[in-house]
Amino acid sequence: MSMDGLDPAISVAENYRVWAREAQGRSPAYVTLANAVADDSTILGFLGTLRDLVRQEPDRLSQVMRARRTQTNEAARCATLLPALAQLPEPLALIEVGASAGLTLLFDRYTYDYGDQVIVGSDPQAPTLHCGLRGPVPVPARVPEIAWRAGLDLNPLDVSSDDDVRWLSCLLWPGEGDRAERLALAVASARRFPPVIQRGDLLTDLPALVSQAPAGATVVVYHSAVLAYVDPEDRERFAETARGLGVAWLSNEAPGVVPGVPLDGRNDGTFVLARDGATALARTDGHGDWVEWLPVPDGS
Ligand SMILES: C[S@@+](CC[C@H](N)C(=O)[O-])C[C@H]1O[C@@H](n2cnc3c(N)ncnc32)[C@H](O)[C@@H]1O
Repeated sequence: MSMDGLDPAISVAENYRVWAREAQGRSPAYVTLANAVADDSTILGFLGTLRDLVRQEPDRLSQVMRARRTQTNEAARCATLLPALAQLPEPLALIEVGASAGLTLLFDRYTYDYGDQVIVGSDPQAPTLHCGLRGPVPVPARVPEIAWRAGLDLNPLDVSSDDDVRWLSCLLWPGEGDRAERLALAVASARRFPPVIQRGDLLTDLPALVSQAPAGATVVVYHSAVLAYVDPEDRERFAETARGLGVAWLSNEAPGVVPGVPLDGRNDGTFVLARDGATALARTDGHGDWVEWLPVPDGS
């Protein structure tokens, strides 16, 4: 038991078991490690004592926590977003909120392998994104024309910075197939043609960025794996802003995260791809491995 009367070992063990479930089927090394920690009272006891570290070295800890945040940037998510993008009138002006290093702004650079259908990208050295199809996914024949693109992030990562790229690679789970190679190729492509990412908060700085988009293009505001990092009340504020901008709004987030998107009761690490905070288009793998198109609801 810790000094404040809590039993940290119980919640730590539970957290590690949840982590093992999330890593199931993705990272056998993490599954084994997390379950081993959850079963080991010595390690749990040690982890419990780390609370003391918070008291003893708050400055050092807060320095690290302020310097880095979870900013995983997974190019493969482009493969799950592409069918929804391709339903919009061209040309497109893309605005990604929570863009991290901008790798999910580079739709036209990548090659897409959807099994039966391959779409060849403009950068032959960029990675090929393999994405399984479930249900009648409307895979386009090509990537729609992108007239303009920009990202917005609280803390844009710079693909030309070796430190930032190292941090991106630290965020990958160990043993997860080809993710490390995909990241390296996507970063190399982004270094050849760097995306523009503005520093700013999605709660306050989106309208100004939207006003910079060129006339004549369909402005698409989109985000994946971002709103979970925003407080629930602020998600509501963001949704209100996005709805009021007169743009197409695509969200690719965990179920229950985007206000207005219908829930299907799942909470298994998959995402829901939705349009305008209202219509669920697809269920997607959180890291872009597959996309499952959903039936259009009755009355739509
Ligand atoms: C997990 S990353 C996802 C990156 C990218 N969208 C992808 O799918 O690969 C979440 C990103 O959202 C950004 N973010 C979180 N809250 C934000 C906010 N209030 N305004 C702007 N960006 C935010 C973080 O800085 C981080 O780069």
